[in-house]
Amino acid sequence: ATGPVPFKDLAGAVPVGLPTNDDDPKRMHVLICYQGTWVLDQHLPGIVSIQRSFVPRRGDVVLTSPPKCGTTWLKALAFATMARGAYPPARADEHPLSRLNPHDCVPFMEMLFAADPEQAKSKMDALPSPRLMATHMHHSILPSSIKDSADCKIIYICRDPKDMVVSLWHFARRAQPELSFPYMFEDFCDGTSAAGPIWDHVLGYWNASKEKPEKVLFLRYDEMLRDPAGNVRKLAQFVGQPFSPAEEEAGVAMDIVRLCSFDTLRNLVVNKAAAGSSSSPSPSSSPFANDSYFRKGEDGDWVNHVTPDMARRLDAVVEEKLRGSGLSF
Ligand code: A3P
Repeated sequence: ATGPVPFKDLAGAVPVGLPTNDDDPKRMHVLICYQGTWVLDQHLPGIVSIQRSFVPRRGDVVLTSPPKCGTTWLKALAFATMARGAYPPARADEHPLSRLNPHDCVPFMEMLFAADPEQAKSKMDALPSPRLMATHMHHSILPSSIKDSADCKIIYICRDPKDMVVSLWHFARRAQPELSFPYMFEDFCDGTSAAGPIWDHVLGYWNASKEKPEKVLFLRYDEMLRDPAGNVRKLAQFVGQPFSPAEEEAGVAMDIVRLCSFDTLRNLVVNKAAAGSSSSPSPSSSPFANDSYFRKGEDGDWVNHVTPDMARRLDAVVEEKLRGSGLSF
């Protein structure tokens, strides 16, 4: 990139039902098409800054996902796994995840770098190794400092796009109750959703994981629900911290699963906090209320919102885009 990116020169600003953290409660985010991907306007300066200046450090792990695919859960699991030496997951009451929302444990890079790139850099520099961070950026727009560096690994999570659009709608409705599901669904099928087109998002990381399995770990929300401990073991192995025989004997993987389970996290005081609650203000890395990240935590809730016709339509779009990749939902 050369020089600052002028917002007004970027094509196709589309309003979406996600609140900004501005003072004006009626202002909604707009989506901007940036390098072939749809990004929230507030994240764009952060994305550009990450592209220009992010310097990886040996051991870095970047969690990547489209929104509403289990980012919060993955943050909790990765944090608990990688920090288990300092914070034993069996001692749940003393664990940082019992007093902090997972988004407060693992920074969201776009927001961090959008606020103040210099300060973001100092904050990142201050983090001890191995550092853990997260982004919704497509693989195609990650800087090569992340994509190609041997210092830095990527863990990706995605889910059935039908569940994703339903989760996104519930999330957005908290700020915009009148937002209709068919309206959001249309945009989603057109690829015009936060971090869309979703099939390109998934495919980018899928292909990267096939090409370099030691660099990119590809996880699926539905598979994690089916076998959380197996996936925690996979994650631990991938980041170079496999469970020792003594840890296996002690059931550490299951301790992590319990600590990060939907019911455990959702029922914590910190995560029950709604927007503006003084007992637990929204985390600095997210403008959203802590309780908004925990809704149902199930696979297949789409059947309650998506008609069979809609499902056929979205499935057909996704199937066509993923054809030949070896991946399907
Ligand atoms: P639903 O809306 O389908 O319930 P993200 O963290 O990327 O925003 O994704 C949010 C989705 O993950 C929501 O899905 C939320 O309920 C679910 N979720 C959050 N924490 C979870 C956990 N610990 N275990 C399983 N699902 C979780």
